[in-house]
Amino acid sequence: MTNSILKMRLLIQLFVLLFSSVNNGHRLGSSMKPIHYDLLLLPIISGGSPRLCGHVLVDLEPTMTTNVVTFHGVEISILDVSIEQVLDTEKKINSDRSVQLEDLCFSGLFEIVNEAHTVIHEDVERQQISVILKQTLIKGHRYRVGLFYVAKVRDDNRGFFRANYKNDNTSCCHEGWFGGTQMEATNARRVLPCLDEPGFKTTFDVTIGHNRVMSALSNMPEIATRPMKNTREWMWTIFSRSPPMPTYLLAMFVTDYDKVERIYKVCKRTIRMRFWGRRDQLRHLEQSMAVVPDMLNYMETYVRQPFSLPKIDFISAPLELDFEAMENWGLVLFRENRLNFNEETGSEDERFQVVQTMAHELAHQFFGNLVTSDWWSDIWFNEGFCGVFENDLVQHALPNLVFRAEMSKFSSIRTAMKIEEHVHAASVIRAVETADDAEKMFDSITYSKGSGLLLMLRNSVGPQNFRNAVVTYMERYQFQNANSQRFMDILDEEIHKNRDIGRGMNVTKIMHSWTSQQSYPIVRCIRTGNGRVRLSQTPHPVRNNITSDETTNQLWWIPISMTDGNQPDFTQQGTYPRVWLTPERPSLEIPYFPTDSGHDSTNDEDDNWILINGEFSGYVRVLYDDYNWRLISRQLVVNHTVIPQVTRAQLIDDAFTLALGEYLEYKVVLELIEYLTSVSDEFVRATTQFHLKWMRERAKQNESLLTLFEEYTGRLKFERMDDEHPNEYNNLVRTDGFEGEGCSSWSDGVCVDQILGMFRAEMDGTITAANKKYDFTKLC
Ligand SMILES: *[C@@H]1O[C@H](CO)[C@@H](O)[C@H](O)[C@H]1NC(C)=O
Ligand SMILES: *[C@@H]1O[C@H](CO)[C@@H](O)[C@H](O)[C@H]1NC(C)=O
Ligand SMILES: *[C@@H]1O[C@H](CO)[C@@H](O)[C@H](O)[C@H]1NC(C)=O
Ligand SMILES: *[C@@H]1O[C@H](CO)[C@@H](O)[C@H](O)[C@H]1NC(C)=O
Ligand SMILES: *[C@@H]1O[C@H](CO)[C@@H](O)[C@H](O)[C@H]1NC(C)=O
Repeated sequence: MTNSILKMRLLIQLFVLLFSSVNNGHRLGSSMKPIHYDLLLLPIISGGSPRLCGHVLVDLEPTMTTNVVTFHGVEISILDVSIEQVLDTEKKINSDRSVQLEDLCFSGLFEIVNEAHTVIHEDVERQQISVILKQTLIKGHRYRVGLFYVAKVRDDNRGFFRANYKNDNTSCCHEGWFGGTQMEATNARRVLPCLDEPGFKTTFDVTIGHNRVMSALSNMPEIATRPMKNTREWMWTIFSRSPPMPTYLLAMFVTDYDKVERIYKVCKRTIRMRFWGRRDQLRHLEQSMAVVPDMLNYMETYVRQPFSLPKIDFISAPLELDFEAMENWGLVLFRENRLNFNEETGSEDERFQVVQTMAHELAHQFFGNLVTSDWWSDIWFNEGFCGVFENDLVQHALPNLVFRAEMSKFSSIRTAMKIEEHVHAASVIRAVETADDAEKMFDSITYSKGSGLLLMLRNSVGPQNFRNAVVTYMERYQFQNANSQRFMDILDEEIHKNRDIGRGMNVTKIMHSWTSQQSYPIVRCIRTGNGRVRLSQTPHPVRNNITSDETTNQLWWIPISMTDGNQPDFTQQGTYPRVWLTPERPSLEIPYFPTDSGHDSTNDEDDNWILINGEFSGYVRVLYDDYNWRLISRQLVVNHTVIPQVTRAQLIDDAFTLALGEYLEYKVVLELIEYLTSVSDEFVRATTQFHLKWMRERAKQNESLLTLFEEYTGRLKFERMDDEHPNEYNNLVRTDGFEGEGCSSWSDGVCVDQILGMFRAEMDGTITAANKKYDFTKLC
């Protein structure tokens, strides 16, 4: 014993020397290409000593001759290593390994029989385990490395986790255990030694050992069961082989849940759908079950690819997950409140969240699962696409939830903008090296800005070109890896078939300006007389960062759509870009009615508002001249429905934000919300309240200021408070409303600007508790 340890130390030193010269980063090198995993997993989830025992056979092809195989692995102990050259890929795998695994996990007895390695070296920081083999692996040959190992069953939701749950006492007084996996982003390495990077897509054979009273689930359908040798109460469930997929989509669950089963049938294909839950939850699965077939059908039709697997399971976990749902291919995991909906007690917002989450995860079955991003730095593209499809799918499956879908998309994109305004955020595409970097990618910038940028892109190239590119992309890269650049290349090909649109447009160049830079542009739109308007771009500065001048030179490719009060058009036509502001031409002057619209522009100049970026067609905010703001305010008072609700909310959100940044006087903002004193405009009201509450929150530091503010806001009557949207946008403030306060008009206030100027100063920190010297009465 002692002897071998000493020998090992020497070898490790030698190894570290040799190895560090070829591997400096956290990513695995390209010296091994994984082809296939055959995983035998035995999780013991109940009781006081949970454990995870496994044996994995990894088929690998070395791309260089070597005797080192490096896997990812965290808290994994490898007990034995075998190696053989694979000559016949169909060769049957010896089933003795399952008996050996039973012995190991149940009685702790384990006999080392292979010992094909000399040293196992763990690099904890890089989360890598290297096996140095006695045998040399020849480049181009195929090998099967077998590893017996023990890993952890966890109580959080990373890797293989367990949870204890109780059924409703009226049904059975039953207490159960639930075990399952969460691999994304980098937790597969806590469940098995593997090459845990999304660029490695391989097939998987999975066999799970479990108690007979439990069901085992994995991505693929179960094809056989086999009793265990050691104990009659346990068995092995064997699953069919998966298509190529990344390790982060591998999923395994062991549960004694009940299920409801449905068949999704389209043409000659049938897909088995199972919805799993605790017994007393099964009746709350109706809403999810109702929308899946429509949504799946919409996705299949849109991307022109069938769903790839013969089944799909939906399961919720009886513990608080860090995420809402996970799109594991064929086995989607949810928080309980995202899969179950109680028809009797649930609110419409809750129903929407269930439907929206389902939409997102079903979109992932294609974006992410069928075609996978080749590295985490580009994950915005997967998540952004699913964000885009959330709305389309909700609209398709439950048209009466469209209002909520629009509102949710609006809030989510505005959340991303708010974050970019307040903190030094990050660009959508950013460098990812470590596991920690990868986990951090799953933020609002990735999800919300990501989908905002793709919506802008779809709008700029037209939905038909966009869809054609999606179809080609899916066709070309299915079962493989790709990235946003591949998609932009295809889209470029697509639009250049159509010379009208394609001329001078380069999607790669356009999108690069959005994905590689943080923050967003403010578009100024100023009338210059004679029916002309000057458009220019300026970056929104990051607040709370006086030292940053990095943003001042930023320029974007900005699609500018325009409409006006004479012929308001918020359809696809009306929100299609009329001109582009570019880095080479960051400002330009154009007539504000298109030359073919038949306007005598000079006559219309005075009393028609113009509006750009209608229906949120670009990821920008717009600053008009005061006169145009006033025309828009007048329109809202006369008939606000001429401007659609998302655009109304956008105008008000832009105006408040620009006033805070001192681009605009508050007086103008208050005129803009004047119409809310006479109409109930729920959605816009919620946006307005957000800003007013935020201002009030800041004013609380000074009581007399607060009194004055409340005198003003108190006159604006808010009959309905709508605080039920716990997203980040609202979480930026502590929400407590000012219910029950009424008002008739805002515009009579002469010192509105002075008051609000004070708020602004408070918010900026220009006035601190120590240096507040203003005499408020004098200011008015
Ligand atoms: C179930 O629990 C509730 C509240 O804890 C209790 O009132 C009820 O009597 C229980 N029912 C049964 C059948 O035990
Ligand atoms: C301020 O900006 C600089 C770069 O311009 C950045 O490195 C820094 O993290 C920012 N600080 C904050 C507090 O956001
Ligand atoms: C678009 O721009 C990129 C980068 O500027 C360039 O490499 C590419 O060739 C351009 N594509 C077309 C179709 O002009
Ligand atoms: C308000 O505008 C909408 C949309 O243009 C129109 O359908 C409606 O009739 C107008 N209402 C009034 C009172 O003019
Ligand atoms: C609050 O603001 C008012 C008006 O500007 C000022 O007179 C007063 O001193 C301030 N109070 C505190 C506690 O700073």
